[in-house]
Amino acid sequence: MSTQPAAHSLDPPFRVVLVCLGNICRSPMAEIVLRRSLTRLGLETQVVVDSAGTGGWHAGHPADPRTERALAARGYPTGHTARQFESTWFNERDLVVALDKANERDLRRLMPEQPRASLRLLAEFDADAVSLEIPDPYYGDADDFDAVLAQIERCCEGLTAFIGEQVRTHR
Ligand code: 4NP
Repeated sequence: MSTQPAAHSLDPPFRVVLVCLGNICRSPMAEIVLRRSLTRLGLETQVVVDSAGTGGWHAGHPADPRTERALAARGYPTGHTARQFESTWFNERDLVVALDKANERDLRRLMPEQPRASLRLLAEFDADAVSLEIPDPYYGDADDFDAVLAQIERCCEGLTAFIGEQVRTHR
């Protein structure tokens, strides 16, 4: 019997990347919220979370100050450096999560033929979602950032449950 794992099997840890356009507003929020939510379930050693943007304009920059304010107001840690998503990550992650449908379309164009990772929309994990989009708050105000953070928190509850299930059933 072979002890070699299948090429696309889930080796620990489970890896998930959250992806928006600029990686300075929505996906850094989602990364930090998801990490905290996984820690609450004791999954922090079994899951690696990161984030990126499909665009590279802000690579190397910190999160938008409005993102940091919204996170700090809800008691989350801050400190982030933006990065641009790379197509090879589809084979270096188990799950790629897009924040809106434009991000999902852009990611699909970068997807290799038989990716290890599956591609999902974050709002799919909010059972009560009225929209599958996490709207871009970049051209909005502080209230928009707070509303997006609250929406991301709801989605991350479902995403955490989904990842917990993946970790349990694939070990
Ligand atoms: P994000 O927001 O995708 O949530 O990080 C944006 C940040 C920057 C830009 C657009 C959206 N931009 O055009 O520079």
